[in-house]
Amino acid sequence: MSNPEQVKHSIEVRPTKPFTDQKPGTSGLRKPTKTFLENQYFENFIQAYFDDLAETTKDKPPTLVVGGDGRHFVREATRIIIQMAAANNVKKLFVARDGLMSTPSVSCVIRKRNTDGGIVLTASHNPGGIDNDFGVKFNISNGGPAPEAVTNSVYDKTRQLTHIRLCPTLINIDLLTLGKHTFEIEGRSTSFEIEVIDSVDDYVQLMKSIFDFEKIRNLLNGDKGKFPIMINALSGVMGPYVIRIFHEELKAKDAVTVKNCQNLEDFGGHHPDPNLTYAHELVEDMQQGDYEFGAAFDGDGDRNMILGKNGFFVTPCDSLAVLAANLNVIPYFQTHGVHGYARSMPTSGAVDRVAEKNKKSLYEVPTGWKFFGNLMDSKLISICGEESFGTGSDHIREKDGMWAVLSWLSVLANIDRSVEKILNAHWTTFGRNFFTRYDYEEIDGPGPFAMLKRLEGMAMSNEIVNKTFNTAYGTKQYTVKLMDDFNYTDPVDGSYTEKQGIRIIFTDGSRLVFRLSGTGSRGATVRLYADSYENDPSTYNKDAQEMLKPLVSLALEIAQLKEFTGRDKPTVIT
Ligand code: G6P
Ligand code: ZN
Repeated sequence: MSNPEQVKHSIEVRPTKPFTDQKPGTSGLRKPTKTFLENQYFENFIQAYFDDLAETTKDKPPTLVVGGDGRHFVREATRIIIQMAAANNVKKLFVARDGLMSTPSVSCVIRKRNTDGGIVLTASHNPGGIDNDFGVKFNISNGGPAPEAVTNSVYDKTRQLTHIRLCPTLINIDLLTLGKHTFEIEGRSTSFEIEVIDSVDDYVQLMKSIFDFEKIRNLLNGDKGKFPIMINALSGVMGPYVIRIFHEELKAKDAVTVKNCQNLEDFGGHHPDPNLTYAHELVEDMQQGDYEFGAAFDGDGDRNMILGKNGFFVTPCDSLAVLAANLNVIPYFQTHGVHGYARSMPTSGAVDRVAEKNKKSLYEVPTGWKFFGNLMDSKLISICGEESFGTGSDHIREKDGMWAVLSWLSVLANIDRSVEKILNAHWTTFGRNFFTRYDYEEIDGPGPFAMLKRLEGMAMSNEIVNKTFNTAYGTKQYTVKLMDDFNYTDPVDGSYTEKQGIRIIFTDGSRLVFRLSGTGSRGATVRLYADSYENDPSTYNKDAQEMLKPLVSLALEIAQLKEFTGRDKPTVIT
């Protein structure tokens, strides 16, 4: 038999019909899995990407990475991408073993192997499986999510697409065995290469260059005794990374209890989003009081939730602030230095206070990790985060759940072995930003859009500026200082992004934000964010929901949320 790698594989040019709804949202294109499976929907989107890439890489055939979070269709999608890459002049494709690669790992591999970009097959924290969601995200050569100029250009191409190109004979590549393959493709002057890689290797190497593993090992199982922790991977892609880092590299099997570390195509029915609602199993485990620290990741491993003993919740906003204040304990920052910090607009102002004290610049960007990329590339920031459970640094260009966990363990190893005490000390120094987010998910009909439209009008007319509101709870009054529709001009490339959420800022510094989610795939999701600063120490240990009740009730009143959405309570509170 002839070696399949020696025969010339021919290219099939297959007619297709364009779709009008392939516009990527906050983070890639997310749709029900079944949508991707029908009428070459997936293939069309990938072809549009390759067409766009061909324009930007011109005569230099690109090298790319492909990997995904293991949800239903990831492996088949990987095989389709291999066939299409061969037919679209891709020089080399690094393919994750078994299709599995966390989003931070894709970013790490793009940077380490100097590729022109990558394709991430994930719908992140959206549930997976045939009846749930699938997604595709494109990353660029800095390792970060493609900026809007790229995604808009791909979107334009999806609407005009007439053909897809593929090499159908490259269907049966062994995705389980590491190694290189070279193929000759008819009509191509260069051969097509595939390298199946284990992304855990690259990623672990990076983590070992950032953190003091010996110190973390000593925290978990060292001279001060055991420090029991619980890690829950929610059946997403992080299982192999967790086992490798905690059990093999840190040799802390005794101290580190793991759950849901086997990747499942439907995430075991979990909604793989690490927050108090969807990662409730971790919350309950922590409430038993046996673990000092707990963490969960989302489906593709870029989000994280941090808990202390007895389920003590660290909001992502505080997590960012605490890490920013303690970066000096992490070897990477000792050698690279610390530039500024950044947060997304709805994220609380906790990190702003750290920036002020440490005399660092603080950037406020729209929701979406892609907005941090330029700031990092230009060394304006070193660390950033979002209220949506994302934390990361300039070691890669994606948020990074494992990085956040190892950062926290570094702080615990160096500062204090109690999460709660670390937070209390932080609030004593900086004061506390009480923060909450209410989500009203999957609302059908025009209500949410009409609500936002009305708020936009109110922002334009300044009609409530200087107005003082009483609230339904307590005696607190709020006077509006500013109301606007957030827009952002990127300080590096001058690109302008508008309509990123309605902000109401009060004279005492409290803030309310309203926006529609850009990651949902069914109906519209309204998000309401409330952020209120206190510097009276007697409030620091109060319950955030209690403290924010007056502000939230005012938000509901100003936005007439119930009238517009028909909802009298949120589906998720974080
Ligand atoms: C993704 C992005 C984040 C963003 C989040 C929330 O996870 O990577 O940067 O904060 O979605 O998006 P949404 O539009 O649903 O609020
Ligand atoms: Zn994610």
